Amino acid sequence: MAAPQGSQPRVVIAHISDLHFGGFADLQQIEGLEEFLPSLGATALVISGDVSQRARHGEFQAAHMFLYRLRQRLPALIVPGNHDIEWWKSPFGLLGEQRKYTKYLRYFAELRPELEVPGGIIVGALSGYGVALGSLTWNLRDMAVKGHLPRSETNRVRKIFSKASPDLAKVLVVHHNVLAGGTGRMGLARWRSAHRRLLETGADVILCGHDHYEGAGQIEGGVAVSTSGTHSYRQRGGRPSVFNLVTVEETSVHIQHFRWVADERQFIPSDKFSFARKGAPKVAVSVAGGDQGL
Ligand SMILES: [Fe+2]
Ligand SMILES: [Fe+2]
Repeated sequence: MAAPQGSQPRVVIAHISDLHFGGFADLQQIEGLEEFLPSLGATALVISGDVSQRARHGEFQAAHMFLYRLRQRLPALIVPGNHDIEWWKSPFGLLGEQRKYTKYLRYFAELRPELEVPGGIIVGALSGYGVALGSLTWNLRDMAVKGHLPRSETNRVRKIFSKASPDLAKVLVVHHNVLAGGTGRMGLARWRSAHRRLLETGADVILCGHDHYEGAGQIEGGVAVSTSGTHSYRQRGGRPSVFNLVTVEETSVHIQHFRWVADERQFIPSDKFSFARKGAPKVAVSVAGGDQGL
């Protein structure tokens, strides 16, 4: 996957999500990821949340060791998902906001991590608040599942990106899927407002998960979105698991899917989608909506 001439700088992110350590984790895939990810020549690894099933110590410990081993090979950033939050310890934040994140923070240092790598800056935004006013919808089943993006989060990310060098690729990570994708369901409550504010952050690409269904798309107005699948047995519709390799070049963003083939116990390259990079000089390729097959 060599970059076309003159398209530097180039940042490559191995984007995985929803490992769900616990009863549903597919250990063959986890082992496969551990072997395969370091071979992709990625600049960094991103895990977009839901590393656990029930925010249990054992699940976090397994996830911690997985990440610890991969961090020996490449820099990594992780954000929490709705499954990683003990929301029942402080519903509606009544007993304080920190209580629900205490266990996660014992194993993973930050709720809003930042990572600078050669050619890029990666920033995590918190979208998981458990049972919280901002995440409520008219569907009661969404209660502890939906996420939301407060204005304070998008403002914080916008400031970080605006202070960073214009040469750096800006990568934003949230757990909840920001596009409806394969399941037709939005991960975020009040998503129209979130979309407007996500566009204002200046991100070149948004990495998310939660949907358990891979996706590559674009928020209307121009920012590319990578949705990674799950490596648990809870894929939607019995489809094979997929993770994404995301490449940000000077004028474009490429999202390459890698599909798990259970019989062969390996990930193989699958579909690839390419999008124009927002704000980048329009020198070559890409139209809004993606020019597949590049
Ligand atoms: Fe999940
Ligand atoms: Fe989730």
